[in-house]
Amino acid sequence: MIGVFDSGFGGLTILRDLQKVLPQYDYLYLGDNARAPYGSRSYETIYRYTLQCVRELFSRGCPLVILGCNTASARALRRIQQEVLPFEFPDRRVLGIIRPTAEEIGRYSKTGHIGIFATAGTVLSDSYSIEINHFYPSLKVVQHACPLWAPLVEYGERDSEGTRFFVKREVDAILQEDPEIDAILLACTHYPLLEKPLRQSTPDRVRLVFQGSIVAEKTSDYLFRHPEMEARLSKNGKTSFLTTDTAEFFEKGAEFFGMDGISAESLTF
Ligand code: DGL
Repeated sequence: MIGVFDSGFGGLTILRDLQKVLPQYDYLYLGDNARAPYGSRSYETIYRYTLQCVRELFSRGCPLVILGCNTASARALRRIQQEVLPFEFPDRRVLGIIRPTAEEIGRYSKTGHIGIFATAGTVLSDSYSIEINHFYPSLKVVQHACPLWAPLVEYGERDSEGTRFFVKREVDAILQEDPEIDAILLACTHYPLLEKPLRQSTPDRVRLVFQGSIVAEKTSDYLFRHPEMEARLSKNGKTSFLTTDTAEFFEKGAEFFGMDGISAESLTF
């Protein structure tokens, strides 16, 4: 199976696109809902939680795990790749979603000014600026943390008056900081769920960029370039779900992500 991990529900926006582009594979999704959100937690905590979840996905038969979470990709990926995999799991792979998104993002702007909405953890890591700079050195990148958004999504407040207020506040702030921004990347997998209030607050000249389809296309490229990994993946088109919260909580929440009628398994560490 391909493991897909997120702090909570957000990674379902990545899973949905993976299923669309690569429907033949089996997926095992793990949402650490009981400990979400990760966004404002310390580097050490995000690393520890993410590693625990990656180990769980490995132990359940995933040779490849995608961190469908920008915060975990920013705070834990490199350390897992450098300090854990070579020693404990030399034949397994963990991929993040920041680099593949950074590789493509320059194509979305005409003015050369890009806005990034992300969690505080992702913004603090500076990962997007660093990665984007490799591929598009002249692109101006303005990062903006939206610490309240993931908790609002996680708790089902996707289009309430309060949510609309907080969405508009951040959109206004980033465009005030750089009025030449013509594309904003939603660099937290929870944010696509705020599409409605985001579209209401964003002027038409500014494009919203969703990373799910980018990540799915890049995963497809990866599997094409790594036939040895591709050959190890089971192909029955099935998806299973794990959550650190209760199964009922996850099954209900997943409906907002278009995943109706799923059954989840609850796990405790
Ligand atoms: N969905 C996650 C991301 O892409 C993090 C949300 C959170 O747990 O704060 O960054």
